[in-house]
Amino acid sequence: MEKLVIEGGVKLHGEVEVSGAKNAALPILCASLLTADSVKIRNLPHLQDVTTMLTLLGHIGVDVELDEKMGVVLRAAELNRLQAPYELVRTMRASVLVLGPLVARYGKARVSLPGGCAIGQRPVDQHIKGLEAMGARVKIEQGYLSVTADGLVGAEIVFDLVTVTGTENLMLAATLADGVTTLRNAAQEPEVLDLAVCLIGMGAKISGAGTDTIKIEGVASLHGFDHPVMFDRIEAGTYMTAVAATGGELLLKGANVNVISSLVSKLTGSGASIHFEGDQLLVTAPNRLNPIDIKTAPYPGFPTDMQAQFMALNTIANGTSTVSETIFENRFMHVQELNRLGAKIEIQGNMAVVKGVSSLTGAEVMATDLRASAGLVIAGLIAANETTIGRIYHLDRGYERIEEKFGRLGAKIRRVSG
Ligand code: UD1
Repeated sequence: MEKLVIEGGVKLHGEVEVSGAKNAALPILCASLLTADSVKIRNLPHLQDVTTMLTLLGHIGVDVELDEKMGVVLRAAELNRLQAPYELVRTMRASVLVLGPLVARYGKARVSLPGGCAIGQRPVDQHIKGLEAMGARVKIEQGYLSVTADGLVGAEIVFDLVTVTGTENLMLAATLADGVTTLRNAAQEPEVLDLAVCLIGMGAKISGAGTDTIKIEGVASLHGFDHPVMFDRIEAGTYMTAVAATGGELLLKGANVNVISSLVSKLTGSGASIHFEGDQLLVTAPNRLNPIDIKTAPYPGFPTDMQAQFMALNTIANGTSTVSETIFENRFMHVQELNRLGAKIEIQGNMAVVKGVSSLTGAEVMATDLRASAGLVIAGLIAANETTIGRIYHLDRGYERIEEKFGRLGAKIRRVSG
């Protein structure tokens, strides 16, 4: 199994080009299931989760043609297997996103209950509730969700809580339903908006995406489209936080500052300075940052996917901070590992109290989930001496060429096997 070895304690300096967003790419790839025409998707990130999704679409019967520039042409002309098997989806919860489009176009689908990061219970009851409201029948048998419908009908759906893939799944389903669907308490994440832009380009009638109320007027059919995936705000935030934590300087290319304002305000609050012009951001940080409290929340709040990385920064801040997690109930698995590097963090319910120390010291640690791994990488970059991170397959699900990108910033980071 591969590991990352980091010689920390180096201030990072340089440029990073942000990749396409994993969390936008996955639902947008599934949009191709809604039409028999070719759909071209560009700026795909080169990630394990994207490969898993393309394999899943290929298994269902979609013709997948990749080009060398990470563009893909998908053609779902005739689908022969309306199901997503456990072997393919156990590592990736987002595979549940094939459900909405398949039921909308074919009236049936069978999808293994999702796996993915072990960061909480992560049920799919809101997806099911929405599909049922649109007239689908849902059964759970032998670990599979089995859904059938004699044509979906528009419905008024109020989510009990904000769910990103739940909103996306029902938006995908509603594009071909008979009548108007209104999604209330919908996720406002920029990735939901990017999916809506793609669907509208395919002929869907959607308004309100990016707000908490989305209206979708079903149409008889959708057509082909060419869509570039938006930038990855979590990747962008990870590099910004890493460089700030080492007291260095970063020029980030290909990001939109408006989409990452919650992170920008926390980083500037901690003493870093951030200047932007067009799609470029310059981040500079003093040697030691101030502690800053964060509380995760649905967009536009502070993203749960940045919580572990920001906690790593707080471990060496000049004082005590709190990090509250309100989205996932089990998303503090990195705390124990950060403490192995000399951090002083105590968990109190859904809050971690982080007492800033003057430095961290390298050790052997284990990645537990995708974003926790990124937090450990940042801690390793801060820590004196060598840090070895195991189980980095988690990292490869969501970060493109991470050691290469950090290497270009001057980090001493390498991948080893064994
Ligand atoms: C998406 C992101 C993930 C991010 C998360 C929260 C993708 C591919 N993944 O995950 O990176 O961490 O949003 O921003 O976009 N819930 C229910 N019932 C449901 C659905 C969700 O109770 O039917 C709960 C979950 O357990 C969790 C909360 O709602 O506590 C938010 O989950 P959700 O927004 O659905 O996360 P994902 O869409 O899986």
